[in-house]
Amino acid sequence: MSGHVPVLLPQMLTALTPRDDGIYLDGTFGGGGYAAAILRSCRCTLWAIDRDPEAIARGAALAARFPGRLHLLHGRFGDMLSLLGERGVSRLDGVVLDLGVSSFQLDEAARGFSFRADGPLDMRMGRDGPTAAELVNRLPERELADLLYELGEERASRRIARAIVAARAEAPITTTGRLAAIIRRVLPPNRSGMDPATRSFQALRIRVNDELGEIERALEQAVQMLAPGGRLVVVSFHSLEDRMVKRFMTAAAGRAPSPSRHDPRGLAGRSDAGFRLVTPKALRSGAAEIAVNPRSRSARLRALECVLPDHHRHPGSAHRTAP
Ligand SMILES: C[S@@+](CC[C@H](N)C(=O)[O-])C[C@H]1O[C@@H](n2cnc3c(N)ncnc32)[C@H](O)[C@@H]1O
Repeated sequence: MSGHVPVLLPQMLTALTPRDDGIYLDGTFGGGGYAAAILRSCRCTLWAIDRDPEAIARGAALAARFPGRLHLLHGRFGDMLSLLGERGVSRLDGVVLDLGVSSFQLDEAARGFSFRADGPLDMRMGRDGPTAAELVNRLPERELADLLYELGEERASRRIARAIVAARAEAPITTTGRLAAIIRRVLPPNRSGMDPATRSFQALRIRVNDELGEIERALEQAVQMLAPGGRLVVVSFHSLEDRMVKRFMTAAAGRAPSPSRHDPRGLAGRSDAGFRLVTPKALRSGAAEIAVNPRSRSARLRALECVLPDHHRHPGSAHRTAP
């Protein structure tokens, strides 16, 4: 197994600016690359969440290297408020989210994320809830097409859905290899070199793991937990994620032209919004990083800083306890 090479690591550290005695959250522990860098950068405390029990189990070795400083929690970052609240943590000096799947998950055929290696059609990061196979075999054709279109931005969604429904009538689709073959028969390889199954696999993975719902909950909770001067840093890997993060951060910084569902507290347009965009434009990987880590090609990093004095913070967050 090759392990996970962290993306935009120096940029993440600069954006987060961890400091001695600060309390931080890494909401996507994964292979621990970000966590190790944060812990090495100063004498801070780091809470780390991952919904994948295997990631948390692997993290024990890193926790042993930083006694008392790294606390690993199995769960979803969309539940950060309750996961941390139960442990007496209501305020954070920084939160980092490195979205998507890790190379550990992608490279293990048995997890069912990959169209390159044959495995069971699973795709569950947390090993709970319905699998991709259950969606592919049960959803009505129309819903399947909408899912591929909306979450995969797949223009051939209707043709692919039709082919899936025809194939599953012969026998249930239970492997990544068979699903990828069905999609490749509909869509021949294009000149970009991208596998025709890429977008459909992305769509299924996002739905199986409710990834957009998780991000929405996490952004809202992260800004509630940030202490003055605290920063939220998010690295995303596809346009649906990045659009949500961009809209949310712009609205939180009082910049969005009109209220939207990504601005639930109506912060847009308010000069007292209490947050500042650290990255007015998303940071991207340079050619050197892309050459050694192709996954970084689509990465975008955005960061937001809380600038409100403490006593003005978050009217809607009565559940926060005073320090
Ligand atoms: C791209 S990897 C993170 C890599 C990490 N930054 C590193 O340097 O090794 C993403 C990780 O986030 C986890 N993850 C994705 N969505 C999650 C969620 N909603 N809650 C908790 N963990 C999640 C995945 O299981 C995966 O391990």
